Amino acid sequence: MCGIVGYVGKQKAATIILEGLKRLEYRGYDSAGVCVLKDGRLELAKKSGRVEVLVKEVARHHFTGTTGIGHTRWATHGGVTDANAHPHISSDGKFALIHNGVIENYSQIKTFLLSKGYGFQSETDTEVLCNLIAYHYAKEPAGASNPPHANGHGTGSGSRFLESVRKALQHVEGTYGIAVLCVDCPTELVAARKASPLLLGVGDGEHIIASDASAIISRTQSVVYLKDGEIVHLARGGFTITTLEQEDVSPVVDKITWSISDAEKGNYAHFMEKEIFEQPIALENSMRGRFSEDGSTANFGGLNLTASELRQIDRFMFCACGTAWHACLVTEHLIERFARLPVEVDYASEFRYRNSPLDRNTLFFVMSQSGETIDTLAALREAQRKGYRVLAINNVVGSTIAREANGGIYQHVGPEIGVASTKAFTSQLLIGAMVALYIARLRDMSFSDGVSYVSALKGAPDLVRQVLKQAPEIKAIAKRFARHADFLFLGRLSLFPLALEGALKLKEISYIHAEGYPAAEMKHGPIALISEECPSVFFAPKGEIFNKVVSSMQEIKARKGPVIAIITEGCELPPGLADAVITLPDCHEAVLPIVAAVPVQLLSYYIAVERGCDVDKPRNLAKSVTVE
Ligand code: AGP
Ligand code: GLU
Repeated sequence: MCGIVGYVGKQKAATIILEGLKRLEYRGYDSAGVCVLKDGRLELAKKSGRVEVLVKEVARHHFTGTTGIGHTRWATHGGVTDANAHPHISSDGKFALIHNGVIENYSQIKTFLLSKGYGFQSETDTEVLCNLIAYHYAKEPAGASNPPHANGHGTGSGSRFLESVRKALQHVEGTYGIAVLCVDCPTELVAARKASPLLLGVGDGEHIIASDASAIISRTQSVVYLKDGEIVHLARGGFTITTLEQEDVSPVVDKITWSISDAEKGNYAHFMEKEIFEQPIALENSMRGRFSEDGSTANFGGLNLTASELRQIDRFMFCACGTAWHACLVTEHLIERFARLPVEVDYASEFRYRNSPLDRNTLFFVMSQSGETIDTLAALREAQRKGYRVLAINNVVGSTIAREANGGIYQHVGPEIGVASTKAFTSQLLIGAMVALYIARLRDMSFSDGVSYVSALKGAPDLVRQVLKQAPEIKAIAKRFARHADFLFLGRLSLFPLALEGALKLKEISYIHAEGYPAAEMKHGPIALISEECPSVFFAPKGEIFNKVVSSMQEIKARKGPVIAIITEGCELPPGLADAVITLPDCHEAVLPIVAAVPVQLLSYYIAVERGCDVDKPRNLAKSVTVE
């Protein structure tokens, strides 16, 4: 979790860092801090609360230094206090450090450092790393510093600063993305990563290190995605990258393909609202160029598997967390339904410890918007360790999961900033539906069924546009129900995962207790919750189970539970059964979950707004969970 930014250049570092922190704030918002180097001194400001609190604090200090670091925290070790906010300063005053991750052996290192006379101001795991660097620096011979030069790819190994960071990291267990300043090196910065994201923006006479591209995009589109075990040494004129083992790394400079406007709210009140409304375009981008010329199947460039290899597969395993896990459940339904192959879906966090028996002919998928979720990454690594090829469905280009997977499918929906996932979810549903189609067409699905499946998927963006037009009516429903303390979300078959997703969305952003259940399962327990105070949101699409779902509604109504029904146009409900009705356009089974996602996204969004909640930054959450 948390966002980190570091700057080395000619501009005021604090201004650039604060702008970067605002863009990274979705990653964590317990506290924020900035530290700049000026005239051989570390100038520090850090505060509990949002970046806006820090902005006011920094305004009082007039920081003018041109080298600096900044952090927005999602606390793991130590409460949300000013003292625990990053950056941390070593007790000899020489180093400032920001950290994303967890130092697992911090307690042993702390005991050692205390015995050497180092002091601690915070309860964090991070501070021990800062002091450990100071300890190694004090032990290193004070030779000439050798900063990197103009776009230099020198070894950088001569720097005492760099070598102290490297030595300290060799003793660390756990995960980190760090950036470090040293008072003796006023125009330098050292950064490193292991299992926490970090990239380097290469600008004109300036370099920026950040957790993700949104923090650098306003200054440069040239980016180097750092890999685990790499250390970058920045100076104004250039940078070097080496590994923990001191090997030189030749940097690969990529171009970011999206622009600053993609990471801004525009005229929308919240990122979540913007991302809900941009779903038609996001879906178009996810499917662009991915259908065969004969219009009967999907094509994926990056699977790195031939059709004949895929025909050998007789089972699928999907791992993910949160909303992406719900998308996997829908994909399971579609693969089993159309390709007639068994699929297992597991929480990534469970899979890695469960030692699940896998079959040789199993194809393993992970799904992750960010590509940085540590549980999903660990599941990928565990599957690879067991000899499986792992494919990733992922949005963020260059993310750790994308790089470590053996192949995969990018979602191409642009940056998703709202902590509650929306456009990434519907794009995952679309890609899952396309994977199901692709596999089905390698097996029993006919050409003509393939053609109608493809044309249905192509029509999904317009169907989503139709649902979005109902936003004013859904807003009115949200106003009526916003003060209830409990909700049930109920659906069946491919819409059961949508019930889970609806409940998750509502919980996340409005803090209302909500549960998702298969509609018929509700009578086996959750029905005890039903009263006038607990509304139920039913997915009741047209089809063989429509009447069964209507019976479940009757059971709720008989117990005075308010009913919000999401039905297909043309379906008739008994008069007086539903207290509110939202109508979906009629559509193909593969598209239904995508279309059905939109009303529950809007409902939870408007309820959260009505309750005055901070929609884009819900309490206790962070966008990507990079700690276990
Ligand atoms: C979604 O609204 C949540 N914030 C969360 O469940 C999220 O989907 C989960 O943490 C997985 O994230 P990922 O897709 O980036 O791996
Ligand atoms: N472990 C550090 C802390 O609690 C960093 C947490 C993070 O990555 O957000 O301060």
